[in-house]
This record gives sequence, C-alpha cells and structure tokens, in this order.
Amino acid sequence: MVVSNETHGPPSVAQPEAKGHVCPWWIGWLLVSPLRRLFENPDSLLGPHVRPGMTVLEPGCGMGFFSLPLARMVGPTGRVVCVDLQPRMIAGLRRRADKAGLAPRLESLAGTLDDPALDVRRGTVDLAVAIHMVHEVRDPAAFLRRLAGLLRPGGRLLIVEPKGHVSAAAFERTVQTASAAGFVERGRPLGDRGRAALLERPAGGPT
Ligand SMILES: C[S@@+](CC[C@H](N)C(=O)[O-])C[C@H]1O[C@@H](n2cnc3c(N)ncnc32)[C@H](O)[C@@H]1O
Repeated sequence: MVVSNETHGPPSVAQPEAKGHVCPWWIGWLLVSPLRRLFENPDSLLGPHVRPGMTVLEPGCGMGFFSLPLARMVGPTGRVVCVDLQPRMIAGLRRRADKAGLAPRLESLAGTLDDPALDVRRGTVDLAVAIHMVHEVRDPAAFLRRLAGLLRPGGRLLIVEPKGHVSAAAFERTVQTASAAGFVERGRPLGDRGRAALLERPAGGPT
C-alpha cells in the first residue's frame, strides 16, 4: 500500500506528472528553514481554516514546512495526508515528522493525487491546502477535479501561489479552472499581499 504513516522504508517511485519545472528536491531543505516563518507563518495562514480532528490533504507538501504545523493543529484525532511527486521530499518529510513526534498523525505518499491509494479518501477530506505547487502541475484542470472529488461536500481548498512565479492573470486562470472543476470561491485570505484563494466544494455538488 502506498499511503502510509510509517516513517521509515523506501518511498515509492514518483510518477511523471509535472510540467518540467518542478522545484528540485534539494530546495526542499531551504523551504523548511525556520527563517521562512518570518514572512510566511503557517499558523496565521492555516490556523483560521483548521480544527482539531480534521482530515487535511496537502498535495505538493515538499518536506513539510506546512505539514508539521498542520499535524499540530489537527491534534491526535486528526490526520494530514501528504502527497508529493518526489520521493526525496517525502523522505525528508518523514524524517522531520519522526523527529517532531508527529508521525502518527501523518500519512505520506510519493506520487500524485491520481494514485488509486487515495480512492479511500474520496468525499472525506475536510480541507485541502495546495501551497506554491499548482503552477508546477501539468494538468491543473484534472488535478482540481480530483481534489474536488476527494473533499467532502462543504470541504474547502486553500490555494496559495508565489507572487514571484505566478502573475495575477495566471492566478485568476487557476481560480477559473477551479470554478470549472466545481469549486465556489469563498474568499481571498491574503488580499493584495499574496496570491491565495479559499474555495469550497458545495454541498450537493457533483462528486
Ligand atoms: C515549490 S515546492 C512547495 C513545497 C511546499 N508546499 C512548501 O511550500 O514548502 C512544490 C512541490 O510540489 C511538488 N509537486 C509538483 N507537482 C506535483 C504534483 N502533480 N503532485 C504532487 N506534488 C507535486 C514538488 O515535488 C514540490 O515538492
């Protein structure tokens, strides 16, 4: 089984999903620097959307800059399901989760949302967070449709994209693609300070 909350053992082989400008694995170590909290604080960005006991899905988790704070926020009864294309990102995440004593709250998968191991999560995820990764996805429309199917009715998706890499126009196209996938927009949490959209899979919408 590919989804696992084990913290050891070889991650499975990545799938050829990305567009060709995927963040190199070694940058994963820079992305988890504590200094990053000075300008991108996981607690203030994610805290308003997370409650204890939630199931949170994080595609493109990297080495877990957001995953570990999410695991603290969902508490011992919650789960964070982490998915990354690159096995080395997942290996780094597992090591860090182990060290922080948070491994029992995390499941990790080296691959993409298309992995059939995620089918058991269909219609169950309370919140998905896709942070600085949608611009790397080869087929954003298919990715967002799959995300919509994994969320429960009323479940939410937070997309955050980097201002430096993603223009305002490109971000609006992503939000439109999400609407076409069945999402309804619920807000822009960062306002003009960043590219972020909070979206919802409406109750009673398509599965
Ligand atoms: C720029 S990094 C951001 C990592 C993390 N979200 C953060 O902000 O620290 C983007 C990550 O998305 C992953 N990624 C790209 N396309 C993906 C896909 N289709 N499915 C899963 N992960 C993907 C990359 O391997 C990389 O680890």
